[in-house]
Amino acid sequence: MNILVTGGCGFIGSNFIYYLFEHYSDVKVINLDKLTYAGNLKNLVPIEKKYGDKRYFFIRGCIADRELVPQILKKFQIDAVINFAAESHVDRSINDPAPFITTNINGTQNLLEASRQAGIKRFIQVSTDEVYGSLGPEGLFSEETPLAPNSPYSASKAAADLLARAYYKTYGFPVIITRCSNNYGPFQFPEKLIPLAFLKARQDEPIPIYGDGQNVRDWIYVLDHCQGVDLALQKGEIGRVYNFGGNAEKPNLEVVKAILDFLGKPHTLLKFVQDRPGHDRRYAMDFSLASRELGFKPSVDFKKGLELTLNWYLKHQDWISEVQSGEYQNFMRNWYKDRT
Ligand code: NAD
Ligand code: TYD
Repeated sequence: MNILVTGGCGFIGSNFIYYLFEHYSDVKVINLDKLTYAGNLKNLVPIEKKYGDKRYFFIRGCIADRELVPQILKKFQIDAVINFAAESHVDRSINDPAPFITTNINGTQNLLEASRQAGIKRFIQVSTDEVYGSLGPEGLFSEETPLAPNSPYSASKAAADLLARAYYKTYGFPVIITRCSNNYGPFQFPEKLIPLAFLKARQDEPIPIYGDGQNVRDWIYVLDHCQGVDLALQKGEIGRVYNFGGNAEKPNLEVVKAILDFLGKPHTLLKFVQDRPGHDRRYAMDFSLASRELGFKPSVDFKKGLELTLNWYLKHQDWISEVQSGEYQNFMRNWYKDRT
């Protein structure tokens, strides 16, 4: 099978490409990535070395490029598309929503249209629980929960989901949407809570906790999400939405305290700062449909997954230094300056 993976140099995309080569001996992977601040070619050096120009091909480019995408689909005789490419950070979307519209909405539409024209047999739109909005203390998001996104990021992902749905309803295009809760694991960019807390704690710097620190996320180890996406690709019913979650609801404060404890750092590093505007209170997933229809089951519990993740970061401190470009430093300085 020839698979176009978009955004394969980002956090989940890199993990997914490792997952594919570990589980299949007959796949060819074409990775289309724009290499924004969040994309890192070095994530895939071992794959490039082992499979480069035989079963793995990297192309630097944008999913919104109307000439490039059809060319790639044709040249590599792509069977399936997995769309991970996105602007993915909520705080950046609050700062400047425009790139979220260009990539997440226009880019997805371009990919859908080119894939439809090329007769692609399967298209997985990788989405998020954030499209459902925010929960109170009780209840779970199901696939039937109405979309009610609150941030420019989640609104752009919801728009992409609706376009994917429309391509199925209107053209019978074989698309499947997956919606997953918060991922953590190797290669996550240090603007997201877990790697950011690791980085700050290692440097004995304060860790910013938005609001009261009681916002809840359902954490899933990234390889469990990869397994879910693969199951959707292999066994999913076209036109369906599948939720994935980790069965690990945690308030942010508990997550950050666990990181400090693991590293032997004091809780005095916790610093409560001004809340994120429109901050969703709680996410939690009902993924019984994916369990029933696909056999999806998260296999890494939070304690084990956090240990694996923090040990990976400890071993790859060169990686974390390298990804901190000037652009990253500027964003972090400006974003947190106004909140402390
Ligand atoms: P990431 O920010 O780490 O990586 C995104 C990748 O997409 C980067 O390599 C970047 O260079 C690339 N990219 C950005 N714009 C592009 C464009 N126009 N054309 C081609 N490539 C482009 O993101 P992630 O955390 O790996 O998330 C991957 C996908 O999974 C996203 O669609 C996100 O919405 C979704 N998702 C993420 C989470 C999570 O917890 N991180 C949870 C659920 C769903
Ligand atoms: P994040 O990793 O940005 O993921 P998302 O917003 O997509 O859920 O944030 C996870 C949670 O951690 C969220 O409730 C916001 C909170 N948070 C902080 O308290 N401080 C921070 O510096 C960051 C980045 C996030």
